[in-house]
Amino acid sequence: MTDATPRRIRLDALAFGGDYNPDQWPEEVWHEDVRLMREAGVNLVSLPVFSWPQLETSPGVYDWEWLDRVIEVLWAGGIRIDLATATATPPAWLVRAHPEMLPWDADGRRLEFGSRQAYCPSSPVWREHVGRMARAMAERYGQHPAVALWHISNEYGDHVARCWCPESAAHFRRWLEARYGDLDGLNEAWGVNVWGQRYTAWTQIEPPRRATGPVNPTQLLDFERFGSDALLELFRIEVDVLREVTPELPVTTNFMSLFRELDYWRFAEHEDLVTDDAYPDPADPHAHVPAALNYGLMRSLKGGQPWLLLEQAASAVSWRDVNVPKAPGRMRVDSLQAIAHGSDGAMFFQWRQARYGQEKFHSAMLGHRGESSRSFQETAALGRELQRLAAVRGTRVRSRVALVVDWDSWWATSATESLPSQRLSWLQQTRDWHAALHALGHPVDTVRATGPFEGYDLVVVPNLYVTDAAQAAALEAYAVGGGTVVVGPFSGVVDTTEKVHPGGAPGPLRALLDIEVDEPWPVADGSVERIALDGARYDAPVWTEWIEAGHEASVVAGFAGGVLDGRPAITRRSHGAGTAWYLGAVLEIDGLVAVMRRALAHAGLPARDRTDPHLEAVTRADDRTDYTFVLNHGPRELTLDVPEGATDLLADGVVAARLVLPPLGVAVLASPRASKPPFITLSDTTE
Ligand code: GLA
Repeated sequence: MTDATPRRIRLDALAFGGDYNPDQWPEEVWHEDVRLMREAGVNLVSLPVFSWPQLETSPGVYDWEWLDRVIEVLWAGGIRIDLATATATPPAWLVRAHPEMLPWDADGRRLEFGSRQAYCPSSPVWREHVGRMARAMAERYGQHPAVALWHISNEYGDHVARCWCPESAAHFRRWLEARYGDLDGLNEAWGVNVWGQRYTAWTQIEPPRRATGPVNPTQLLDFERFGSDALLELFRIEVDVLREVTPELPVTTNFMSLFRELDYWRFAEHEDLVTDDAYPDPADPHAHVPAALNYGLMRSLKGGQPWLLLEQAASAVSWRDVNVPKAPGRMRVDSLQAIAHGSDGAMFFQWRQARYGQEKFHSAMLGHRGESSRSFQETAALGRELQRLAAVRGTRVRSRVALVVDWDSWWATSATESLPSQRLSWLQQTRDWHAALHALGHPVDTVRATGPFEGYDLVVVPNLYVTDAAQAAALEAYAVGGGTVVVGPFSGVVDTTEKVHPGGAPGPLRALLDIEVDEPWPVADGSVERIALDGARYDAPVWTEWIEAGHEASVVAGFAGGVLDGRPAITRRSHGAGTAWYLGAVLEIDGLVAVMRRALAHAGLPARDRTDPHLEAVTRADDRTDYTFVLNHGPRELTLDVPEGATDLLADGVVAARLVLPPLGVAVLASPRASKPPFITLSDTTE
């Protein structure tokens, strides 16, 4: 098998199951587990994620027997395994033999053993041992027919995403040396003449620990890049071992949705299947909206390939301040939302609810009350229902809109306090822009700022603070080729070393937009500026900009009132058939909806006249069939106009043109593939 051969999860159905921790239970329970798993339709479990100390009881002394038996019991029950390499947490004996492998925080304090993930990502000891453990697991179980997928480590960066210990410091210096070649290069990149930061020896450079005042922003940005890379290196150690010993098996590591600390574009390049852990808060009635963005990212990380929701809660979690359970039906609609967005299954943390330890109040598929628990009743019903959706496995989401996600810009705008305003949030901007498109009826893919943009009618760029020439060229080529681009505030500001582009923003995006930003104009706390668009006024409570429009740019909207009264707020530049818009303000959702409505119309895409944030429709398709998931995330019935003659896979029957979805209701409409994906709207009869 060459590296180009796709390695697919060894499963011929949508995946359904959860994390399984049999080493927390006596053996007789395992048989009961498999009986109930079969009853619920479970076909895949993840294990043994945290069991290294039970598998290697002291250095070089292995106890495989219990895991051998677990695997046999599962396999005899027809249940496959997402086999963890068990390297999510080190055994106590390893930590005590090598206390230098414990991580340090930014204040230089060592973090103790007693939780999980007690390691420095750069520790050579840890790196050697994870490679050894992955090899031992692969050699022991890699040929077992039950193994469907490798699950490497667990949620990299969950507890320890950055480490400030001496080993990390040495690793950071090596990383900087590889990036900049020599100290002159580093001093130039970091702009050290400001505040007297010049370095004359590599040993003078430290990770950005807590300092006397604001730290050099480029040092902070490089430390974020380095921290992500350090965990990527750690991941790749195991990937390489598994590829060597079991080249035919796919590998994954479970992501944490839109997670700041790791550049998932780069991680995904090294895995076969993208998997995600998603915990939308049931206390938030709009949690499904950022969830849709997260899932858009997951399917986009490998170019639209199906991914897998590897963890979610059956009901409550146990790590928020207040852990609200999921009301009846919520877990079902959440699971079907992930599948709508391209997940080939719905998995949980965890199968059986723990009786002890940190997660004993975290819900599970099988709650403390066992078979009669509501979570078992509801998850088992979902398991049966998924069998009706077998046809959607392997199909891809049809999205015409893409949103740029750029980790450099996220890090650079959040690592430093030296900005025009601390109120401008990359994450909030990204979520709000997505929310506007979501409200207007579009599932949104994500994309790097360098593309690929083919196949999209609209590309939105909420906040590309760090911009290089390649990104600008790609966006420009897309617009020149007929695409519609919308660029948000504080974009094109700095280069990759965080130097302001000559002439200021939008730097290399100037040719695309034909504007200049004279000065960012953040809005004082408690104040609100406004823009006037299409006869309406929209609040800009955080950020505005003094914009000079060039000859090629037309002004679409201006500021209304305040110092910037009458000055451009939104501009548009035509590039033949394509256009590039610039929005020089942070708007609230209603304003963003108005802007996106204009942009969608310009791009030739439909938009819902009436919006309801609880309505979501996403189409997955193969060459012949559109499967349109229509989801009601809210507490009120929705009446919708849908294409006539479709079959609802969940309800057995042809659907009328007017579909009534009860609260938390879902329909999956199968219809012959149309040239454009079906566009679902609220019917006029909906109040
Ligand atoms: C994460 C971890 C799991 C578990 C869950 C609880 O997703 O991967 O081990 O702790 O959180 O929500």
